[in-house]
Amino acid sequence: MTDSPEFHDRMLSLGLARVSEAAALASARQIGRGDEKAADQAAVNAMREQLNMLDIAGVVVIGEGERDEAPMLFIGEEVGTGNGPAVDIALDPLEGTTLTAKDMPNALTVIAMGPRGSMLHAPDVYMDKLAIGPGFAPDTVSLDMTPAERVQALARAKKCDAEDITVCILERPRHQDLIAEVRSTGAAIRLITDGDVAGVIHCAESEKTGIDMYMGSGGAPEGVLAAAALKCMGGQMWGRLLFRNDDEKGRAAKAGITDLNRIYARDDMATSDVIFAATGVTDGSILAGIKREPGHLTTETILMRSKTGSVRRMTYRNPTK
Ligand code: FBP
Repeated sequence: MTDSPEFHDRMLSLGLARVSEAAALASARQIGRGDEKAADQAAVNAMREQLNMLDIAGVVVIGEGERDEAPMLFIGEEVGTGNGPAVDIALDPLEGTTLTAKDMPNALTVIAMGPRGSMLHAPDVYMDKLAIGPGFAPDTVSLDMTPAERVQALARAKKCDAEDITVCILERPRHQDLIAEVRSTGAAIRLITDGDVAGVIHCAESEKTGIDMYMGSGGAPEGVLAAAALKCMGGQMWGRLLFRNDDEKGRAAKAGITDLNRIYARDDMATSDVIFAATGVTDGSILAGIKREPGHLTTETILMRSKTGSVRRMTYRNPTK
């Protein structure tokens, strides 16, 4: 595979939207059916099929897992026709498998693409995440601050009270202390049951979503996808990998990570210009979910390029017969 000096992001972005749409459409029949695996598999198959139609020499760097645990879209899988620019791809064919199976809000299909070497090869471990929207001075908040300090710092930057800040956090037992500390500041918390890519993206459109800051641990691969989205929309994000055991440290070593305590800023996770597409599966605050009407399904996709900061929203009416 040869490296292409040019990443045709303008041309490729429309193709990327189709990939994301196809995955969402394929999972439509699985919404609310209680079968996470079937929902994920349908999205994976469709995403892979569409990706393989693109004229790219693509490599999956954030995917469904290691080669031995994921038969398709595994890390290192080569995708595309091979005729075109050398690109890295980060994907989550169905972000929120449980949300889809239970027909709960904010399930998305997600994919990001950039030139070779443009995205952190994050191992499948947890990442401590922190994000805020655009328009703030660099390092207004940081992962080294306590959760309460972050709320107070953001309130100062927004010239409002801590009570006026809303933080989005994944509802997990491991976040009990985090939630208590954030509540102690008077800030409001939007608890989500899954889907922290959407959780982070919420910060970029805080007027629409009502969320000012994202905090807490979730999947590191999802962290890279969220960083790619914020690089396009604006906003700051940081992540620190969390390791629970030696096996997880081994995953980091395999991914070429040597400094296990490093804090990655947004642009350390998405290091050069990227394109990003996400399609709503179930209704959410960022994207409408798939609508079923007689004879067709309709999707909404957000398609973005970091080079230009362009954010395009597209609806697609797909005939079912
Ligand atoms: P899936 O779509 O793979 O189920 O992931 C959903 C998700 O909520 C992510 O958004 C998040 O990063 C991760 O799971 C959190 O992991 P955990 O459920 O172990 O807390």
